[in-house]
Amino acid sequence: MDKLYSLIDKLYSTSHLEKDEYTALIKNHRELSDYLFSLSSKVRDKYYGKSVYLRGLIEFTSYCKNNCLYCGIRCGNKSAERYRLTEKQIMECCETGYNLDFRTFVLQGGEDPYYTDDRICDIVKKIKTTFPDCAVTLSIGEKSEESYRRYFEAGADRYLLRHETANYEHYAKLHPPSLSAKNRQDCLFTLKKIGFQTGAGFMTGSPYQTAENLAEDMLFLEKLQPHMVGIGPFIPHHATPFADMPQGSVELTLFMLGLTRLALPEVLLPATTALGTIHPQGRELALKAGANVVMPNLSPTDVRKKYLLYDNKICTGDESAQCRKCLERRVNAAGFKIVKSRGDHVSVNERKK
Ligand code: 5AD
Ligand code: FES
Repeated sequence: MDKLYSLIDKLYSTSHLEKDEYTALIKNHRELSDYLFSLSSKVRDKYYGKSVYLRGLIEFTSYCKNNCLYCGIRCGNKSAERYRLTEKQIMECCETGYNLDFRTFVLQGGEDPYYTDDRICDIVKKIKTTFPDCAVTLSIGEKSEESYRRYFEAGADRYLLRHETANYEHYAKLHPPSLSAKNRQDCLFTLKKIGFQTGAGFMTGSPYQTAENLAEDMLFLEKLQPHMVGIGPFIPHHATPFADMPQGSVELTLFMLGLTRLALPEVLLPATTALGTIHPQGRELALKAGANVVMPNLSPTDVRKKYLLYDNKICTGDESAQCRKCLERRVNAAGFKIVKSRGDHVSVNERKK
């Protein structure tokens, strides 16, 4: 055990471990988490204090051409209800969000060919001109370098694209043959090169995942140096091939958040909705493990139940204002405070703001 504690110290002071070292920590996470979280919260406090940043999530299309085995809106799920928000509806979500102090809007959707690059750029420009003090984040999947450049030129500031799992064989067990880990990872390096604040991430407890796979995720994050990392538990969706697979655990998810905070001290780390779904205090626990971002839903209430990536998703019956209030209360009770700002990564220079 002493050896493992000193590995956590090593990660704390150097932000790097070897694969077998990460693996040993992950395999023994239950015994080590209290110690890990004491250091990961210290690091979060050093860079961000007790500030928690808000991102308003607008789930603007539930159409998706992909068929990822874990995902409830995969094209193969014929029982999923599909919807698209109009530009007007998206702007209304932003308006509501702006009045609730949101200064970042995340446009997330399936890979929906209806939203051509022209349409995406129009929406981004409209949001940026109407709300010039806000950041726009896109989360719309794998595109060409040219498309990514167009979005950036239209004014998009950030891009979220979870790498899902760094291991190529594991990736192939979670995705159809049309998708590859290589392309996914290339997209992430391209996004960074273009100048996006870039977010990667993965699920904990996804089917067939091993401790070694998670260690590889950590090494991939060290190499990519993303600005943001989304980590949440895998939760089965009843109408997918993984319906009967076990869900990921709260404890392992929190542990991976803690490791990520030490490996990438300045990273923006959300307390995810998925974690809030499998534990009533999941998001508060994530803040205590080193997270510093919350991403409540700004989608219109009548479409929320149609954007189900997994079963039992929280907040699908609530109004945006209710979630905002609920989160304020939760964040405060956990000893943190929500701040009204874009919440850029600390490396972003003043010029871009
Ligand atoms: N359980 C948990 N997370 C999921 N995602 C997709 N399906 C599930 C699921 N069943 C995550 C993926 C994706 C993000 C938008 O949601 O990691 O990148
Ligand atoms: Fe949506 Fe609590 S955050 S109801």
